[in-house]
Formats: sequence, C-alpha cells, structure tokens
Amino acid sequence: MELRITKNLIALALMVSTGLLASCYYDNEQELYPGNNLPTSNISFSKDVNPILVSRCISCHAAAVFFGNIATETYDQIKVLADNGKLIGSIRQDSGFKAMPQGSAKLSDAQINLINTWITEGSKNN
Ligand code: HEC
Repeated sequence: MELRITKNLIALALMVSTGLLASCYYDNEQELYPGNNLPTSNISFSKDVNPILVSRCISCHAAAVFFGNIATETYDQIKVLADNGKLIGSIRQDSGFKAMPQGSAKLSDAQINLINTWITEGSKNN
C-alpha cells in the first residue's frame, strides 16, 4: 500500500517535472535562439513584430497595467511609439530613452533590426 503511494508520487513528480521542462523550453525558445529565422525585409506587424512585443513588453504595457502611460497592446498604440521614436529608442537603449524591456535582457540584435526595418518600411499594419 505504502509502496504503491510512493510509486504514484514518483510517477506524478516525473510527469510534472517533464511537463515543466517542456514548457520552459517552449517559452524560452525565442530567448534561446532570438535571431533564428527572423526575416530582414518585408516585415509583418502581426507575424514578426507583435510576437516580440507580446513576449517582452505586454506584461508591463497592457492597457490594464500601463506602466509609464505606455501600452503596447494594439497596432495603434505601437504605431504611436514607432512614429515618435520611443519604440526603437527604448529597445536600442539609446541615451535619452528609457531602456526597455525594464529589468530583463535586451532584445537580440536580430530582433532590434527586425523592428527597425519594420519602422523604416513604414510601420504598416500588415
Ligand atoms: C518589467 C516591466 C516592463 C517591461 C517588461 C517593459 N517596460 Fe517599458 N516601461 C516600464 C516602466 C515602469 C516605464 C516607465 C519608466 C519611467 O517613466 O521611468 C516604461 C516606459 C516605457 C516607455 C516610455 C519611455 C519614455 O521615454 O517615455 C516605452 C516607449 C516603453 N516602456 C517601451 C517598452 C517596450 C518596447 C518594451 C518591450 C521591448 C517594454 N517597454 C518592456 C516597464 C516595463
């Protein structure tokens, strides 16, 4: 009886830990390989730019959180930051801008280049 409980506990622990490992791996794929397969032209807002902002910015800049009176939840909100220079200034961490994402690793060069190219291509809602 006791042995069976122990076995079940071990099985449960294994299931939980492999599940956690798998999800960690999945969550961090962009951070582990942030330059992988990123396009360098014809950047799409929905496919290329927004997923980066969702994973790295929205936890602090959703409409409900709104740090610094900045939201990065919708195209229109992000477009304002693209036009006024704050998006690229903050992620490139240029002097005179607040360095973003606050408290975590800088975006990769490939991600920054991707967002910069999206802006120079007209920051389209594509
Ligand atoms: C951990 C929370 C956090 C994360 C993640 C984060 N920010 Fe911020 N952000 C802040 C806070 C807090 C402020 C206000 C800072 C201040 O006023 O000193 C801010 C301010 C800003 C500003 C306004 C800067 C200015 O000069 O007015 C911009 C633009 C910005 N963030 C963009 C981003 C972008 C883009 C990302 C993702 C790449 C990001 N943030 C990720 C917390 C965060």
